[in-house]
Amino acid sequence: MAETSTAGLTGTITIPGDKSISHRSIIFGAISTGTTTVKNFLRSADCLSTMQAFRDLGVNIDDQGDQVTLQGVGLTGLKQASAALDMGNSGTSTRLISGLLAGQPFESRLVGDASLSKRPMRRVSDPLSQMGAKIDSVNGHLPMTINGGSLAGIRYELPVASAQVKSAIILAALQASGPSTIIEPSPSRDHTERMLTAFSPKSIEKQGQQIVIHPGYDLQGQAITVPGDISSAAFWLVAGAIVPNSSITVKNVGINPTRTGILTVLEQMGANLTITNRQDQAEPSADITVTSSDLRPFEIGAEAIPALVDEVPLLALLAARANGISKITGAEELRFKESDRLQAISQEFTKLGITIEELPDGLVIDGRPSWHVANPNLDSYQDHRIAMTLKIASLLVDEPVTIKDFDSVRISYPTFLTDLAQLRS
Ligand code: S3P
Repeated sequence: MAETSTAGLTGTITIPGDKSISHRSIIFGAISTGTTTVKNFLRSADCLSTMQAFRDLGVNIDDQGDQVTLQGVGLTGLKQASAALDMGNSGTSTRLISGLLAGQPFESRLVGDASLSKRPMRRVSDPLSQMGAKIDSVNGHLPMTINGGSLAGIRYELPVASAQVKSAIILAALQASGPSTIIEPSPSRDHTERMLTAFSPKSIEKQGQQIVIHPGYDLQGQAITVPGDISSAAFWLVAGAIVPNSSITVKNVGINPTRTGILTVLEQMGANLTITNRQDQAEPSADITVTSSDLRPFEIGAEAIPALVDEVPLLALLAARANGISKITGAEELRFKESDRLQAISQEFTKLGITIEELPDGLVIDGRPSWHVANPNLDSYQDHRIAMTLKIASLLVDEPVTIKDFDSVRISYPTFLTDLAQLRS
């Protein structure tokens, strides 16, 4: 795969729907009463794992291409699946569905692929067990068996900011006998809270950093339009900033403030970003244009991570093109994603001749020395975000490189290569 690009990337693209919001649209549509319609649903492997799980739990879901229609069964209408629920590669499916199944009066078994089976599940099974669910796992990993049933409310302080854990507890708390209070160390993405507010405003109350869930209210089906995924847009925003002679407009990007850390860092670095056509709705969106420019280095710590947690590989790439040394710390959570992303980036960037140091909780990248390919055989670690980051990096080297298991992009962005081809033509 030879990838050099002197011509730059140019054009306008519309990226696929947001992965986090697509998962939640299926979950909330399933447990509400009435019909839910979802436009711009992301048909990626992860979101299809969630969709299949709810079909297995007895929910009628009609995927007509331009729209997904769910006939909600309410919080008490799910049926026991006849076999194990296959979560594939999807941590979001596993953790959110675990929270929901913790309150269902039947046994469920959750399985996943090799990567997912290495990811930590105690972070959800601990609070759900405290609420009264009976959960067996293999030393805190999948396969996991959940015997759900009568749950008590909980007051829970999350040890780590995690939207998946927070959402699992919210979904369990909707089925508990009394209210629950959830406290996060710093705010993670709030798509669950926003969607629950639309489906059942009385069920949720925000008190500063605390979320209070009031069970006992029905959820009402909604018409949802999923905005474009800023974590997918980020590949083009970064490519546009670092590939010389580029100018890219990404349309309809979700700009929920709990997700826009990448924009903040790009602005700090001096990138040419223009945000237009802002739409203020439950999940706000806008068009974003970026043109290539010189970039300053940056430093970010733990407080910045939740709003850009999936963009850290791309931040490392930005840093590798900046005029100086950049530092990312407080990012140990990256070790528990689809791969150990700190290790993966450090190893693969070293192959590209980038000066990078792996810290226990982050990365230090020196953007000044020029790159030279020391080893052209790159590895994605079967991790979609590593695969796509390496692909963008490969646009900046003259030598041909290969990326092992590149097809992992199907997890979040199946049309990535088509969009890249469009921007190169
Ligand atoms: C997600 C939350 C994030 C993110 C993941 C999707 C979600 O994980 O990394 O890709 O949809 O809730 P955390 O649980 O670490 O916040």
